[in-house]
Amino acid sequence: MAPLQKKFEIKENKKLNETTFKIVFNAPEIASIAKAGQFVNILCENRTLRRPISICETEPDKGLVKIVFDVRGEGTAWLSKQKSGKKIDILGPLGNGFPCEKGNRALLIGGGLGVPPLLETTKFFGKKADAILGFKCKENLILLENFKQICENTYLTSDDGSCGTRGLVTDVMQDLIKTKDYDIVYACGPEAMLKSVAKICSENKLACFVSLEERMGCGIGACLVCACAVKVNGEVDYKHVCKDGPVFNAREVAW
Ligand SMILES: Cc1cc2nc3c(=O)[nH]c(=O)nc-3n(C[C@H](O)[C@H](O)[C@H](O)COP(=O)(O)OP(=O)(O)OC[C@H]3O[C@@H](n4cnc5c(N)ncnc54)[C@H](O)[C@@H]3O)c2cc1C
Ligand code: FES
Repeated sequence: MAPLQKKFEIKENKKLNETTFKIVFNAPEIASIAKAGQFVNILCENRTLRRPISICETEPDKGLVKIVFDVRGEGTAWLSKQKSGKKIDILGPLGNGFPCEKGNRALLIGGGLGVPPLLETTKFFGKKADAILGFKCKENLILLENFKQICENTYLTSDDGSCGTRGLVTDVMQDLIKTKDYDIVYACGPEAMLKSVAKICSENKLACFVSLEERMGCGIGACLVCACAVKVNGEVDYKHVCKDGPVFNAREVAW
């Protein structure tokens, strides 16, 4: 379905930790068509380029679209200061989401700001999903309770051991896949994490889809800023993260 561009009202803006914010938009047209893993492109006042942010969660019955983002630069700093009632120009939903099939047992792996884009996918699988969430430290921890309420099991790791198990999400993953029978793995997070997850899945013959992040310009496949290398018939080719992704089959990515 074609994305739409419209001003949508902020219903709530909540600070989740020192640098991370959750904004809930009253955006029924997007909520009714968005798929898990898609993103929206947000126009931040006085900036030409829109900022791509993944859809964290939708509530189509209430017409709500939720995003969770970190303040990185000017655009996200501006967005973090906008209050309920403010109307924001949004283009979306954009990109291809995670392919989800009922009946599958899924393992979801999120690292840092890669955690929010997995929440809607987790809702699709409910108790047929386990999640591994990894953060640098407890100060960065977000959405743990949301995942715990939905998944059968939620595992937490941190780099410094200040929350959950000390170590990497892939350490927990290696242990889990020895004892549990997953059909598919979904991952979003830093590229190094995605590359390791993809390698483990390939070695264990597990289907795996990853959500990639690239700097973006237009967000709709018109400017080539977001090119990413993929393998086509053994040769390296390029695709657009905004239009062909952000979700890719991990086997397709030229890591
Ligand atoms: C598909 C996709 C989904 C994303 N989802 C989330 C999310 O759910 N939560 C979250 O916190 N962040 C997410 N990001 C990253 C987010 O887009 C950047 O942090 C944001 O654009 C930074 O804008 P800025 O103005 O604050 O920073 P600046 O550095 O001032 O931005 C300057 C320019 O670079 C672009 N840019 C900078 N960093 C990135 C980046 N990492 N990816 C794409 N463009 C970038 C901006 O859009 C802008 O055009 C996502 C990125 C992509 C591509
Ligand atoms: S951002 Fe312009 S082609 Fe992807």
